[in-house]
Amino acid sequence: MIRLTKTNLILVFLIGATGCESGSESLTPSVWTQEVLANLDRLSPLGVLPSDPTNAVADHPGAAALGQFLFFDTRLSQNGEVACATCHTPEHGFADELPLSKAVGTTKRHTPTVLNTAYNRWFFWDGRADSQWAQALKPLEDPGEHGFSRLEFVHLISADPQLRQAYEGIFGPLPDFSDTTRFPSKGGPIGKDLNYPPLAAWVGMAPADQTLVNEVFSNLGKTIAAYERKLVTGPSAFDVFVEGLETNDPDKVATLSESAQRGALLFVGKALCTRCHSGPELTDREFHNVGLGPRDWMADPKDGGRAGGAGQVIADVFNGKGNYSDAPADPTNDKLTYLTLAGAEQIGQFKTPSLRNVALTPPYMHSGHFETLAEVVRFYSELDENPLVGHREEVLEPLHLTDDEIADLVAFLESLTGELPDSALLTKPDSPLPPNP
Ligand code: HEC
Ligand code: HEC
Repeated sequence: MIRLTKTNLILVFLIGATGCESGSESLTPSVWTQEVLANLDRLSPLGVLPSDPTNAVADHPGAAALGQFLFFDTRLSQNGEVACATCHTPEHGFADELPLSKAVGTTKRHTPTVLNTAYNRWFFWDGRADSQWAQALKPLEDPGEHGFSRLEFVHLISADPQLRQAYEGIFGPLPDFSDTTRFPSKGGPIGKDLNYPPLAAWVGMAPADQTLVNEVFSNLGKTIAAYERKLVTGPSAFDVFVEGLETNDPDKVATLSESAQRGALLFVGKALCTRCHSGPELTDREFHNVGLGPRDWMADPKDGGRAGGAGQVIADVFNGKGNYSDAPADPTNDKLTYLTLAGAEQIGQFKTPSLRNVALTPPYMHSGHFETLAEVVRFYSELDENPLVGHREEVLEPLHLTDDEIADLVAFLESLTGELPDSALLTKPDSPLPPNP
C-alpha cells in the first residue's frame, strides 16, 4: 500500500515539476490525491503467480522443458512448418505483427501475447478455454493454425525416442498406440463434417481408446502450460514508479517520464480506463463490447465473441471441471459454476486484454484494428466507429482528449513493458529433456 504522507506529495511534486515538457502543463501536488494514489496502487505490482490446481504438472521442471520444446516444434503441424512460436514469436512479445496470422490458413482473430497468461481467468478473445493447458490444445487441431490432430500427436510421441523418454519421465508409461486399426494415424473431433476423414476416423474409435488418446493429448497441453507459466515479465517502469511513491524513493519515482505520469493520472481518472483495465494485470478479466467497426481483412465480420465462447468453454471436455482436469471438484475453481450463458449483451463482447507489455504487441484489438497505441487511444477519445454486432457498452462515452493527452496516455501505456523472461526460455531447446541438475 502507498502510505500517503506529506513527503510523498512534495516528492511527487518536485519530480513532476523538474521534468517539465513543452506544450503541456506540469503536474501540481493537488493532482496526487489519496484517491489517485490508492488507484495507482491497485495496478501494481503484478503479484504472485496463481496456482493451477487443474494441472498437476504446472510447476514440474521436466514438464516445462518438454513444453518448451513442443512450443517450438514444427512437427506438430499438417505441413511441418507451424509451431506455436510461428505466431507467438518471442521477438514480438510472444505475438506477431499481423492483424490476422498466417499458418496452414489464416486465423479468424488477431494473435494475443502468451506473456503473463498464467494470470488469466479466461483464454482466447472469447474466453472459450478456462486454463492454459486446455487453451494449448485448440490451435493444434485448428485447420487454419497447426492443422494437426491428437492421433498424430500420440503416434509422434510414441515413435520419437526423446519425446517418449521426456513424456514417460513425467507421466509414466505411454499406452501402446501401435495398433492402427484401433488408433488410426490421423484424427480427432475436428469440425462437424462426418465425411472429413480425421473426424470419421475419430468417431469410429472405441470410447475407451478415445479416452487413452485424450489423456496423452491433455498431458501435452499441461506440459506446454508448464512452460508458458514461466513466461512472466519483470517489473515495468510504472511498477518502479509506484514502488518509488510507496518508499519515498525519488530515483524510482523519476523512472516515469512526466508525460507518462500525466498519462497514469488520466488512466485512473478522467479517461476512465480502469473501469475495465483494472487490477495488477490491467484487466477486469471480463468481456466487453467496445464497439469496433469493420475492417476489410476481417475473417468474420459478424464475430459474436463471448456469445459463442461461453457455451464452448462449458462444453469443452478439457475444461477445469472435466475428466482430464487434475482437480475437477476444486471449490476454488468456481468460474464455470458462475458463468453467464449467452445473454444478448454478450454479442460482440471480447476479453479485456491485459495492458502489461502492450507496447510490444501491435497491432491491437481482436482483429488487429489499430496499428499503434495512439490510434487505440484516439478510438476511445472519439468512439467514431459503429459496432458490427451488438451494441457498444454505455459506460463508454467519447472522451474528447487533446493531442497532448493522447500522447500522455500512450507514454503511460509504453511504461507498462517489463523485462522479458530469461533468454533460455526464448528459443527452442536442443532436447525435450530437462538439463541435468
Ligand atoms: C496461426 C497462428 C497461431 C498459432 C500457430 C498458435 N496460436 Fe495461439 N493464438 C493465435 C490466435 C489468433 C489467438 C486468438 C484466437 C481467438 O481468440 O479466437 C491465440 C490465442 C492464444 C492464447 C490465449 C491468450 C489469451 O490471453 O487469451 C494462448 C495462451 C496461445 N494462443 C498459445 C498458443 C500455443 C501454446 C500454441 C501452440 C500449441 C499456439 N498458441 C499456436 C494464433 C496462433
Ligand atoms: C468498457 C471496458 C473498457 C474500457 C472503459 C476501456 N477498455 Fe481498453 N479494451 C477493452 C476491451 C474489451 C478491449 C478488446 C476489444 C476488442 O478487441 O474487441 C480493449 C482493448 C484495449 C487495447 C488493445 C490491447 C491489445 O492488446 O490489443 C488497449 C491499448 C486499450 N484497450 C487501452 C485502453 C485505454 C487507454 C482506455 C481508457 C481510455 C481503455 N482501454 C478503456 C475494454 C475497455
